[in-house]
Amino acid sequence: MDAEREILELEPIAEDPEVGRWLAAMRDTRRDTIRELERVSPDSLDRTPAGEENSIGTLLYHVALVEADWLLADILGPEAAPPWPNDLLPFGDRDADGHLTDVSGMTLDRHTERLDLVRSMFLDHLRPMTSEEFHLLRRRERWDVSPAWVVHHLLQHEAEHRAQIVRLRDALGAVPSTDVQIRVRPNGSYKVYGEVSVLDPQDVPFDLTGRRKRDPYGERIKLCRCGASRTMPFCDDSHVETEFCSVPSAATPSGLTDGEG
Ligand code: FES
Repeated sequence: MDAEREILELEPIAEDPEVGRWLAAMRDTRRDTIRELERVSPDSLDRTPAGEENSIGTLLYHVALVEADWLLADILGPEAAPPWPNDLLPFGDRDADGHLTDVSGMTLDRHTERLDLVRSMFLDHLRPMTSEEFHLLRRRERWDVSPAWVVHHLLQHEAEHRAQIVRLRDALGAVPSTDVQIRVRPNGSYKVYGEVSVLDPQDVPFDLTGRRKRDPYGERIKLCRCGASRTMPFCDDSHVETEFCSVPSAATPSGLTDGEG
């Protein structure tokens, strides 16, 4: 029994499983981007630290514009694309010198709303595709390109700009994370994500150095839920030896009794 094992899989979000998995990968990437944006302080959106060329606001606009452009110009093409959404994306991508157009004076909400609207337009066109259509090459002025390649490119593009945004965010002073999440593992520990301290009964903090590990959901510590750990209150995987069985469900209320201990 390997109770702590995570299941890392892409559940298709379109009728055709192959198309659906690629689109799920896009959703996953966007989730990571939004998670990183949560710690961007509002006054750092339009600032560009020394040594950097673009602000976070400029990069967010660019990510949305590139997604819309690949959809309209390359996947749909002049024969099928609706008009360019000027209300949403009023500026061109680059200035006369080839630099990204500086985009400032917008709130983070406005930027994320634009990302959402472009994504929903993208999904409206990609979701109904069969895998044959997804791999069909479109003949464009500069290249022949398939929707599958576009999705692959957009995944890379967003991930690279997310790394840039995180670097800018941290250089400009990220908002400290206050979000704490506890994931109850089936037949296993409590995984605690976020900035937490663990105090003993005398209110002395445990040293968490070496106990924080990164997994796909962030950085976490593991607290024992089975009672068998030799390193209480932390999980040392003794639950595997003892074959601890407990799979609580939020859908099944377990009563509201809250002891004093
Ligand atoms: S839950 Fe892992 S040792 Fe108790």
